[in-house]
Amino acid sequence: MCGIIGYTGSRPSAPILVEGLRRLEYRGYDSAGVAILDPGRTPLTVVTRCEGKIAMLAAKLEAEPVTGTSGIGHTRWATHGRPCEANAHPQRAGRVCVVHNGIIENHAKQRAGLIERGRVFMSETDTEVVAHLIDEIYDSAAGDRAAGDRAAGNGGAGDLAAAVREAISRLDGAYALCVVHDEHPGQLVAARHASPLLIGLGGAQGQLDLEETFVASDVAAILEHTRTVVDLDDGDIAVVDPSGILQLLDAEGRPAKRGRRRIEWSPLAAEKQGFKHFMLKEIFEQPRAVRDTLSGRLPQFRGSDAQAQDSLDFADLSGIDFATLADHHKITMLACGTSWHAALAGKYLVEQLARIPVEVDLASEFRYREPIVRAGDLVLAISQSGETADTKAALQEAQRLGAVGLAICNVVDSSIARAADHVLYTHAGPEISVASTKAFTTQLTMLTMFAVHLGRRTGALEAERANALLDGLREMPVAIDAVLGVQAAIKIIARRWVAARDWLYLGRGLSFPVALEGALKLKEISYVHAEGYASGEMKHGPIALIDENVPVVVLALEGPGYHKTLSNLEEVRSRGGKIIAVASSGDDQIGDLADDVILVPRVDPFLQPILASVPLQLLAYHIADLKGTDVDQPRNLAKSVTVE
Ligand code: G6P
Repeated sequence: MCGIIGYTGSRPSAPILVEGLRRLEYRGYDSAGVAILDPGRTPLTVVTRCEGKIAMLAAKLEAEPVTGTSGIGHTRWATHGRPCEANAHPQRAGRVCVVHNGIIENHAKQRAGLIERGRVFMSETDTEVVAHLIDEIYDSAAGDRAAGDRAAGNGGAGDLAAAVREAISRLDGAYALCVVHDEHPGQLVAARHASPLLIGLGGAQGQLDLEETFVASDVAAILEHTRTVVDLDDGDIAVVDPSGILQLLDAEGRPAKRGRRRIEWSPLAAEKQGFKHFMLKEIFEQPRAVRDTLSGRLPQFRGSDAQAQDSLDFADLSGIDFATLADHHKITMLACGTSWHAALAGKYLVEQLARIPVEVDLASEFRYREPIVRAGDLVLAISQSGETADTKAALQEAQRLGAVGLAICNVVDSSIARAADHVLYTHAGPEISVASTKAFTTQLTMLTMFAVHLGRRTGALEAERANALLDGLREMPVAIDAVLGVQAAIKIIARRWVAARDWLYLGRGLSFPVALEGALKLKEISYVHAEGYASGEMKHGPIALIDENVPVVVLALEGPGYHKTLSNLEEVRSRGGKIIAVASSGDDQIGDLADDVILVPRVDPFLQPILASVPLQLLAYHIADLKGTDVDQPRNLAKSVTVE
């Protein structure tokens, strides 16, 4: 998502931080900032921030230079609080400055406590909570130290690492943090939990014989300066200065040692974290992305009397009152492209779990067909970018007709997010590849949670069933990891079928939108003809296409409709068709019917679309890669279609 860099050494830090941020800009780009410890200033740490691109930060630093040989920097992709200077990092509280990647789930509670204790907040970010907590804890420890100690010069400065450790013990969520303090010039404190962070040891490559140390969320930021890194583990806190790592404590507060790693990647490969394409990197980011979508939104539902409390946790991150949403008699979902496929799955989920009728419309059709919308209808616009012109116009048209507009977006504060009355953010992180992958699975994740919450509100869903579904979602990142683990087998299938000119994708029920999305992925990046169909429609046309040259990808997951799908497989087979089946692990019948089988872990049928999308993404990716197409920027396509 966002990017972190820290530097301490003997060179001016500003250009190193800014260049590092430039290398991280692909991760997020709505605002940026640096905090530099400048010995000539009071207070010592000077914070420079701005909304927009790194170039604007560079211009600001050129106009108002800050000298100093240590500091921290950040490029932001908004999660809490809109993109603006006040919400940019570093966030300062007292003598502490913090940069942060990730999401602090209990920020609202911590903020309320800090305000009660007299702290004044200047931003809407969860990060400022972290800065205040560290500053408060540090100062109260300093107050406890005997004044005489200070006078005698016994540890004049407090223990910053201890304050960071105490602060993060009060935080829930995911974070990578880098902290500086006015009393600790030349030192950086780095801490991580479920968000990557590493330390770069300077003087590498033999270019520079300098004592200097880096902290970065991503090796791309520091690769010009060093290729020797130490990866922090979850729960680690490290204190560094120009000579290297002064102290490294593990989650239990015990001194720890972490091995060094030498990076051989080129700087460009590093931006892709060693993956050949952004698309592949984003496919592999899905466990993390889905975890971030779920973060803070998974309550345990209580019994039937739970109506008043059920959605509290969900509302905490979204500010949405599900009690009123469930009052709507009809929901219309609007989207384009991949997001439209997510909407189609959303219809199955909401109708079956919450029993509220759902219409799904292509935004480009909806806006011009004099849609029937009644005052009080709920319209849900789904968009990764939040900038798709048709989706925005369709949402606004529905609002004009009296509908309440809800959006599911990835990009915070995007046009659609701003136009909507309520927003649910997926927090997938920046998606660079034109072909959407993690945006889709996080939309499906959000729609599943949305349907479960609505189902509890309407009373259509028993608490026990709701909890089972949310438990399944909790386990989803691990299940996705398991699917990613079969990449090598999918690559072999891709190699076998790379020359095919026509493909058919079949799915039933919730697997139907997945089939459409699988076909779209292949079309988009490999330029071969692929069509997605509902399995039951096969006899109404597509069966005429089947011969030994047309691979048929069939979603044959266990659950409702499984046996009907097996009959479809027989029909394809008897016409000489070649079958690639995506099936549930443990299925011992499917191997007799399919030429190739991709097994995915068994999950609740309502959760299958998230999981089953992943092998189809990998299949499309490897076919395109074997064909040598421009995977990340396929011809004629744009990431975000901001014109009609
Ligand atoms: C473009 C992209 C697709 C995307 C669609 C909708 O066509 O290439 O990947 O699904 O726009 O974009 P949105 O940002 O609204 O989800």
